[in-house]
Amino acid sequence: MQPRPEIDAMKLYAPGTSVEDAEKATGHVRVIKLASNESLWGPSPQAIQSAQKALASVQYYPGMQPPALVAALAKTHQISSQMILVGNGADEILRVIATAYSEPGTSILYPHPSFSAYHHSARLSGADPRPIGLRPSGENDLQAILNAIDGTTRVIYLCAPNNPTGGMISRRDWASFLAEIPKTVLVVVDGAYQEFMEEESAPDFLEAVRQGHPVIVVRTFSKLYALAGLRIGWAVAPPSVITALNKTREPFSLNAIGAQAATASLEDHEYFAWVLQETRNARSHLVEMLTSRGISHFSSQANFVTMKSPEEDERMMANRLLQQGFVVRPTTSFGLPGYLRVTVAPKNILDDFMRAWDQLKGE
Ligand SMILES: Cc1ncc(COP(=O)(O)O)c(C=O)c1O
Repeated sequence: MQPRPEIDAMKLYAPGTSVEDAEKATGHVRVIKLASNESLWGPSPQAIQSAQKALASVQYYPGMQPPALVAALAKTHQISSQMILVGNGADEILRVIATAYSEPGTSILYPHPSFSAYHHSARLSGADPRPIGLRPSGENDLQAILNAIDGTTRVIYLCAPNNPTGGMISRRDWASFLAEIPKTVLVVVDGAYQEFMEEESAPDFLEAVRQGHPVIVVRTFSKLYALAGLRIGWAVAPPSVITALNKTREPFSLNAIGAQAATASLEDHEYFAWVLQETRNARSHLVEMLTSRGISHFSSQANFVTMKSPEEDERMMANRLLQQGFVVRPTTSFGLPGYLRVTVAPKNILDDFMRAWDQLKGE
C-alpha cells in the first residue's frame, strides 16, 4: 500500500524533546524544557479551576464553536463573533485554510526559515509550496513575497513574530503590502506570538480584517496563556472565510475542557499582564546576557531568542546543554542551521542556563 506521493515525500514533524524523554536520556531528575516556547509561568489558576469543572460534563459533545469563548474573544478584541473561528490549536486552522483555499495547480507562498506548518499545509492540499527567504534581520520579506505572487497564488502565510527568528513586520511594510495584495489571494497572519511584541511599533493586524481586507489572523492560547496541552487556537477573518473554514474542519475538533479554560483565561487580566511583563523583562535579561558575551542572536519580539551556536554542529551543543539539564531547540529543521532557539523563562532559570552555557564553552 502506498500513501499519496505528497505524503510519502513529507518529513515527519520534529517536535522539541519532551521533559520525560530528556530525563530518561540523561538521568537528570529535573530537566528544564526551553525548546517549544511553552510558558514556564504556567496557566492562570482560574483557567485550571474552570477546566476541572468542565470535566463533570465530558459525556456531551462540545459545541462546534463554544459560544462563551467566541463571545469573550469578540468582546476582548472588539470584533463581530461572525468573524471568529475557534479551532484545535492554531495548527488546525493553519492547515484547514490551505485545504479550503488551494488545490493542485495553485501555489502557496510562505516565509523561510519559518514554522513548518505552512509547507506542510500546502503539501497536504496538493498546492505548490513556494518558500520565500527572510530578510537578514529575520523578518518576513514582504516585498519579495509581493514579487513572487503570480496567477497561481491562492494563499500567503506570514509569521509575525516569525518563528524561529522572532522578527516582526513593521507598520509601514504592512500598510504597503496590504495596498498591493490582489483580492484573489488570502493573506494568513500567523500571530502565535503576537502578545509578546512591542506594541508601539507593531501593526494592528486585526484592523485589516475589520476593514475588509482578504486577511485572516490566526492566534493561540498555547503561548502566553500556557494552554498548549489543551489545544485551543482562534482566528479572525471575513465572515465568508469563517464559513468556508467551518465547512472544511472537523465539526468536533475542539475539546470542551480547553474551551472553558481559554474563556476563563481571558477574564484573568491581572495574571496575564504580570506574565507578559515578566516575559518581556526576562527576554531583555537574556538579550543582555547574550550581548555581554558577544553571542550573536536575532532581535526577537516573541517569547524566545535564537542565538548562534558556538559549536559548528548546533545539535552537538544542544546535546551538551541537555546533559546539563536544559532542552533547547536546534533550528536546523526550520532551515536555519547553526542556531539554537531558547524559550524565555523566569530570570533565575535563564541565569542557570547561561551558567551551563559558559561552563560548556570553558571546557
Ligand atoms: C508560529 C507558530 N504558529 C502556530 C503554532 C501552533 O500553535 P498551537 O499550539 O495553537 O497549534 C506554533 C507553535 O509552536 C508556532 O510557533
